[in-house]
Order: sequence, then structure tokens, then C-alpha cells
Amino acid sequence: MSKGKLQKFAEMETFSNVFQYPFAAMEGVSFDMQGFWRERFFHNDHPIILELGCGKGEYTVGLAKLYPEINFIGVDIKGARMYTGAKQALDENLQNVAFLRTNIEIIDRFFGPDEVQEIWLTFSDPQMKNVHKRLTSTFFMARYRRFLTDRGIIHLKTDSNFLFTYTSLMVEHNHLPLLFKTEDLYHSQLSEEHSPLLDIRTYYESMWMERGLNIRYLQFQLPHDGQLTEPEVEIPLDEYRSYHRSKRSSRSTSK
Ligand SMILES: C[S@@+](CC[C@H](N)C(=O)[O-])C[C@H]1O[C@@H](n2cnc3c(N)ncnc32)[C@H](O)[C@@H]1O
Repeated sequence: MSKGKLQKFAEMETFSNVFQYPFAAMEGVSFDMQGFWRERFFHNDHPIILELGCGKGEYTVGLAKLYPEINFIGVDIKGARMYTGAKQALDENLQNVAFLRTNIEIIDRFFGPDEVQEIWLTFSDPQMKNVHKRLTSTFFMARYRRFLTDRGIIHLKTDSNFLFTYTSLMVEHNHLPLLFKTEDLYHSQLSEEHSPLLDIRTYYESMWMERGLNIRYLQFQLPHDGQLTEPEVEIPLDEYRSYHRSKRSSRSTSK
């Protein structure tokens, strides 16, 4: 590990707005703020919004500045990335921001029923080979349901046609209420309204935009009731190699 990363990790241990509970540290352990984030950390009764796979936390910090009456929590397993957002939130004294370093597979161990109002998924890895690792799969929806309010909102912002198509099909197949969908966010109705969505660009988003890729956006609700099942459809794989993403397989489609 580089010296820079080690320094960041050591510094982050002292940050009051960071909670570090990777999977390995959670065996046989319960998280004592589960169901009590407002009471014990934020000290208010405002809604909570999560950014899952937050990377450097641009959405977590950016939205927190735009909406001081809402609490935001960025979640990622990579501490060196999270450091950037956590440090900025501390330096700017943002009281409505926290970061949780953990594996999203166990996210339901950190929040109680109805504790979270919305989830942002920003430029998530499309995980074209393994549906169980895809953050918009029914595997993850089942976990999100355990702590999201009934009909809580999920936002997906992505470069990936594969992830966008898969998620649209998953939403349709399970009759989840669709609120907004565009394959070209910056030339959509939302851009005309100059939504705050357009004011915040993540690290990965900027890289994709430089490559000339469209930014896709999907917003839907997740009701508590109804069985969730996977759509059985073959989807064309993305044609390009992604930053830090694994090599493309020789197949041209995947479920
Ligand atoms: C492609 S990056 C996007 C980061 C950031 N949202 C952006 O747009 O710049 C995906 C991020 O999701 C995180 N991630 C993916 N799967 C995860 C999982 N199962 N648990 C925790 N973090 C995960 C990775 O560590 C990585 O930082």
C-alpha cells in the first residue's frame, strides 16, 4: 500500500464523520447506531439519503450543501476514495454528512426499518458477469427494502447502457413505479429545469463525459410489498472497457 494511502487511512481513523465496518469486522457484531443515526449522530429528525458506491463522495457532499435540512451518508468499501469527501465535509463543517466504509452486501445491518428515504447509485460498476454483485439487482433490492421507507426513491446515474437497460427491465418486470427515465440526462427535460442533478458531477462521470458518453438516469420507487424476481432477458454487453473494470468476456450478451 502506498504511503499516501496509509496516511489517509491513519487520518481517517480520527475523523468524527467516518464509521469503518468492513465485512470482516462485522462477524458476530451488531452496529449500535442501527435505527439511531438521527438520534445519536445527526441530532435531528431530518430524512436520510444514502449514496451507495460513493467513491470520493461528490454526491454526498454536493447534495448535503444544497439541502442542509437533509442528512446524507456516503457508503463505499474503498477508504482512500472516501477520504476526499469525508475531509471536505469536516473542513467545511457540514453537520449533515457521514461516511460508512463497508461492503454494500451487508448494508441492511447498519440501518433500521424505514430509517432511509432515498438511495443514490452513482456510476456503479455494471457487474455484467454477476447479477448478485450488481447494485440494482433484486438481491440488493431485497436488502434495501429492509431499511428504505415504503416507496422510497432509488436514483441511478450511469454511463453504462448495460446497467441502465438491466435496471429498466428489473423495474418493469417487478412493476416498480417509474418516476423518471432518460438515456441522455444533459439533453433531457431535467436539464431544461436545471435540476441540481446537473450541478454535481462525480469523478467517474467527468471521465465518461470526456469520452463523449451519454449520461443515463433512472428514478423509481421501491414498495415494501410484492415478490421481487429477476428479469430473464439477455442484454448486450457494453462495448467499451471501463476504468478499473474487469476485462470483457468473449460473450456479447448477459443476463
Ligand atoms: C465506478 S466507482 C464510482 C464511484 C463514484 N460514485 C463516482 O461516480 O465517481 C464504483 C464505486 O463503488 C464501490 N463499490 C462497488 N461495489 C461495492 C460493494 N459491494 N460494496 C462497497 N463498495 C462498492 C467501489 O469501491 C467504487 O468506489
